Amino acid sequence: MANQADERQNIIGDLQAWIRQNRDLGAEYYLDEGSRPEVIPVTAVVPEVAEAPAETSEPAAPTPAAAPTKPAPAKSAQTKRIQTKRIQTKPAPATDKEAAFRAICDHFVGETLALIKGQPAAGPATAEPLLETHAGDAAAAMAALKAEVLPCTACELSGARTNTVFGAGNPQADVVFIGEAPGQDEDQQGEPFVGPSGQLLTKIIGAIGYSRDDIYICNILKCRPPNNRDPQPFEVQHCEPHLKRQLAILRPRVICCLGRVAAQTLLKTDLSLGKLRNTVHFYEGVPVMATFHPAALLRNPSWKRDTWDDVRKLHALSEALQAEEG
Ligand code: URA
Ligand code: URA
Repeated sequence: MANQADERQNIIGDLQAWIRQNRDLGAEYYLDEGSRPEVIPVTAVVPEVAEAPAETSEPAAPTPAAAPTKPAPAKSAQTKRIQTKRIQTKPAPATDKEAAFRAICDHFVGETLALIKGQPAAGPATAEPLLETHAGDAAAAMAALKAEVLPCTACELSGARTNTVFGAGNPQADVVFIGEAPGQDEDQQGEPFVGPSGQLLTKIIGAIGYSRDDIYICNILKCRPPNNRDPQPFEVQHCEPHLKRQLAILRPRVICCLGRVAAQTLLKTDLSLGKLRNTVHFYEGVPVMATFHPAALLRNPSWKRDTWDDVRKLHALSEALQAEEG
């Protein structure tokens, strides 16, 4: 088996590269629909460059007092920068940013814990009979549910599938990630999030210290919609009971919706992802967070920075809930 420490280091390296990339883009702003949720403050700094003469095609003639040296390359680079009038965004020192993020994160966790206390008694509305059949053994109950769901023909998506994609991971996970529906790779392999966006998801969860075996991953729809189109209401209506039964077995501490469509479909809302992120929601009594879909991150790498904050909040919330339950 590959060295786990090395793998961890690779993941951290990737995340640091994300953060550097986003700094370089000056893209520490959230871009969806013009909304600006809390982000770590960034100080915009105009490069400190002394007034410099406009560049001329000929080097200036040396004054009699000055040594006849060529202009330093750094100087001409500075002159170019002034001429393009570009304002560069310089990140605040890492320690300030970390402190600012920790404060935001603590605030989020505190508010969420207070909200959870104000909720009616948590827990799925219906107990899962398979849990009882299997004497509370979540792994056995989940395996039995999988066997029931795999041959499902409740909607027309079953006709075109190669495989039903039930879900995978730890049947007693504290954290559940919910995507939209299987794509082509998932349909082929029968496993959730195994294509390119799945590989990115694996890195994201690895960066907060989880492996795919620690958490549970599934989708709202268990079969691939043609050409990856959005789930249709009829499909959701027929597939969602499977998800509710999975959650009744899992009884997770927190759910993370991946992307706008997953979040809107699960929460029955048409609020934008920008509004859904940074706020906690509830599904079957379980707190729900929403973040970007990894496929969206592959198209828009500048959203990775906010995703990194989201999953760190998710992790902090899960830890806080675990500590409360003792
Ligand atoms: N996208 C999803 O929403 N789910 C998957 O399982 C794969 C890609
Ligand atoms: N916008 C979306 O629709 N989905 C995402 O995951 C991110 C942005």
